[in-house]
Amino acid sequence: MILAITNQKGGVGKTTTAINLSSALASKGLRTLLIDLDPQANSSMSFLDVREVSKTVFDVLTERDVHLADIVQPVMKVANLHVAPSSIALAKIESKLLGEIDSYYRLRDEVELVKDSYDFVIIDTPPTLGIITVNALVAASHVLVPIQSSYFALEGTDDLLETIDKIKARANPQLQILGAVITMYDKRTVLAKDIQEQIRRVFGEKLFETVITKSVRLEESPAYRESIFTFAPRSSGAYEYYRLSEEVLSRV
Ligand SMILES: Nc1ncnc2c1ncn2[C@@H]1O[C@H](COP(=O)(O)OP(=O)(O)OP(=O)(O)O)[C@@H](O)[C@H]1O
Ligand SMILES: [Mg+2]
Repeated sequence: MILAITNQKGGVGKTTTAINLSSALASKGLRTLLIDLDPQANSSMSFLDVREVSKTVFDVLTERDVHLADIVQPVMKVANLHVAPSSIALAKIESKLLGEIDSYYRLRDEVELVKDSYDFVIIDTPPTLGIITVNALVAASHVLVPIQSSYFALEGTDDLLETIDKIKARANPQLQILGAVITMYDKRTVLAKDIQEQIRRVFGEKLFETVITKSVRLEESPAYRESIFTFAPRSSGAYEYYRLSEEVLSRV
């Protein structure tokens, strides 16, 4: 499965979901590759010392002779997990690929070369629907949409679903929405329950049963370059992301 974690809204939990879901899958013994496609490089920073990174996905997408296998790094604290790091250079990719006929297919071609080495490929995407996210959706077999439990939770969802439909129509007919997951849920509020119902109306059975609640532990763990499973294994976040990984596997 090649799973893009996508929502063009910023700060909804894409990176937190990408790093913890990939850790959960890797800890089950599944060979997992986390591709960081966000120029902010938060996923990379959560696992690697970015000062030791030289080549990144930017080079893979722009240079013919650099491939994912050349840039992936193992994560020291998580067996079976590799990361393809990003860098701020990715922010310049639009202009770099402008006019290239295969610009939307670059990632797909590169993932094709390594996909037999992994059971799962997880792609963390930036908060835009530009060329980077389109590359992720063209390369992916499935999309997972994190939705922040907030008053404006569903704002922009139409654009996302429309983009997914356009990509399905042409570039990637196999693409499927695996599911949507509610993040930063605060179970004490009535509003949160209300929002959950609204989200369920849009996504129906695609909405994961697992809800990721708001947790300081989840917020802290990347700073220590750890997933929630080693940083706070007994926290609600660890339990919930483990549950989410089980649900993801049940939908494979
Ligand atoms: N369940 C949670 N509880 C508390 N804080 C969270 C939770 N999930 C994410 N956060 C925090 O919220 C912020 C945004 O999360 P994250 O970086 O995962 O979102 P994102 O969608 O990847 O953002 P961007 O669009 O900028 O890439 C981060 O500071 C993160 O630590
Ligand atoms: Mg992010």
